[in-house]
Amino acid sequence: MDITSKKSVLSAQASDALLIGVVEGETELAGEALEIDRKLSGKLSDIIASGEFAGKQNQLTIVHTFESISAKRVILAGLGKRSKLTADSVRNLIGMAAKLVRKVSARTCSVSLENLSQTGLEVEELSRVICEGFILGLYKFKFHKTNVDNKDQEVEVEEVSILCSDENQLAALDQGIKVGTLISMGVITARDLGNHPGNYITPSKLGEIASDMAKENGVSCTIYDKAGVEKLGMGAFLSVAKGSDEPLNLIKLEYKPAKPVNSKPVIFVGKAVTFDSGGISLKGSEDMHKMKDDMSGGAAVIAVTATAARMGLPVHIITIVPACENLPSGKASKPGDIVKTMSGKTVEIQNTDAEGRLILSDALHFATTYAPELIVDVATLTGACVVALGSISTGLLGNNEGLISRIKDAGAKSGERVWELPMWDEYHEAMESDVADLRNVGGRKAGTITAAKFLEDFVGETPWVHLDIAGTSWNDKESGYTAKGASGAGVRLLTQFLIDYNG
Ligand code: BES
Ligand code: ZN
Ligand code: ZN
Repeated sequence: MDITSKKSVLSAQASDALLIGVVEGETELAGEALEIDRKLSGKLSDIIASGEFAGKQNQLTIVHTFESISAKRVILAGLGKRSKLTADSVRNLIGMAAKLVRKVSARTCSVSLENLSQTGLEVEELSRVICEGFILGLYKFKFHKTNVDNKDQEVEVEEVSILCSDENQLAALDQGIKVGTLISMGVITARDLGNHPGNYITPSKLGEIASDMAKENGVSCTIYDKAGVEKLGMGAFLSVAKGSDEPLNLIKLEYKPAKPVNSKPVIFVGKAVTFDSGGISLKGSEDMHKMKDDMSGGAAVIAVTATAARMGLPVHIITIVPACENLPSGKASKPGDIVKTMSGKTVEIQNTDAEGRLILSDALHFATTYAPELIVDVATLTGACVVALGSISTGLLGNNEGLISRIKDAGAKSGERVWELPMWDEYHEAMESDVADLRNVGGRKAGTITAAKFLEDFVGETPWVHLDIAGTSWNDKESGYTAKGASGAGVRLLTQFLIDYNG
């Protein structure tokens, strides 16, 4: 699909569909929308006056033009109440409209900045949001579909034109398209990785993909195999991987632009358990297949690193992704086992299904050896986070107010919701073991927080934020710009964080 800018007006477009946004309660058509209404003999305002279309949030009504104008149809798109209008609500509406455009087999679609200026968004942000809405809204994971029965004959949207009437807007419009496209590519990379099954994305395959992506984008990539990880002394990571016949992989990416704004690296760490069966503490079989996405944190930070490089952002980044499977076998770790982490701290494994924090404990300590400016980790870490926040918001926990508030800002700007949970010292008690320095489970209470308290022990004094994406990494149903399956959680958030990063 091509998304292009054009100096033109809606009424001049010979598109299969024109999108016209309408704010609820402000249904008097104006500007380009009014011009089209006149050419359609007032049909749009009739439909509005009849109450059939009220501009309610995400309401979509198709109006066929029967050649009164060059475009085949107009789609009236409800922007909802002004008080609830945000960049994200517009992105959602565009995503829904894009799905409708595809459903009616329209190949070309036009939207205009003049019409959508009523959203109050600046040109660059508006065009970025339109772009993300279309690209992400139309995403489908078809990689493993052979379509032998030819059932999937859907027409794809081929061209989206974003129109502006004022030439002076073109530069900002194009910049928005560029940023929106690159961010969407990153999200799609992460979605694809999360949707691929465990027999396709093994730890080695993830390493290959990361290394290819790095090569394409001027990022350096180092992969540590089992011997390398042993040398580093990552006893916790090794203890998770050893139940599987698939070899583990520790992936390290480094993006170092010519003149970085930071003297010490920003480090991203992502959990990549390419399949989490629970190990000897085996999970129930219901929904176990979804644990193929237990590498979504790793996928997100790999995608963010590639995106930063593609955008040429002036931030020095190191990305660390411990990748392995968590399986039961005669070689697997057993509840009660005690392992020594790279940091020297010992951990009693009381539940082999709490494997994410084990591999992260070593990856986080490894990160501190680079004397970083800050660390952000992303992980599908706890079922408790799904219970607390559902798939609406990512859980955010950390040890540094300043960093926490910058991530929150990036959340507000990118439309990826994050919600902070407390990190009071008292929560640490649950992670104490009778026989080792720590244990890897903290009981039923406050599971997301106790997991984060465990991780905190491995970051030292480094400013650190932990993002628990267990709930947000996967969507059971599609809506707006989301699709069923892996969501690409973390990519828009952290790319925004990097765009705004200034040392
Ligand atoms: N990968 C899971 C967490 C998860 C659960 C992600 C549901 C997405 C959806 C993690 O490894 C896990 O199994 N955590 C356990 C920890 C518990 C044993 C302390 C959990 O949350 O149940
Ligand atoms: Zn687990
Ligand atoms: Zn897991």
